[in-house]
Amino acid sequence: MSKPVYVLGGPNLNLLGSREPEIYGRDTLEDIHQRLRTLAGSTPLELRQTNHEGELVTWIQEASASGSALILNAAAYTHTSIAIHDALKACNIPVIEVHLSNPAARDSFRQVNYVSPAVKATIAGLGAYGYELALMAAKSLTGQEET
Ligand code: DQA
Repeated sequence: MSKPVYVLGGPNLNLLGSREPEIYGRDTLEDIHQRLRTLAGSTPLELRQTNHEGELVTWIQEASASGSALILNAAAYTHTSIAIHDALKACNIPVIEVHLSNPAARDSFRQVNYVSPAVKATIAGLGAYGYELALMAAKSLTGQEET
């Protein structure tokens, strides 16, 4: 059994679907997770969301020890968390950062990003489709493409 791709989400992503849909779209987090399950094929997934910074740090450490790749939307912690930056710097697997919106085109406080300097790649502004692209990239990077 191959190691899972971890897909971790930060604060308020549990509200997707009803939260500022003009920015984040109408898909719920469960909708997004369901699409990823379909796309994953034989690749196992760990799909989780938390509103707590320390829990996200613990899960990033777990992903590094037990996963093949990490897809991370740290949500607002992207712009505030040195603890998450440090956890990512210690991560021994490829990490792909995802944002539904494009924070670079939004508020000035979203211009600070502690995640991007510590990851392999960033996908932003493509809505839920960004997660699908990230999973395709994760599978390719870890040699788990379907034949
Ligand atoms: C977000 C962008 C962040 O700036 C924001 O705090 C979020 C969601 C996104 O997916 O577009 O909560 O990460």
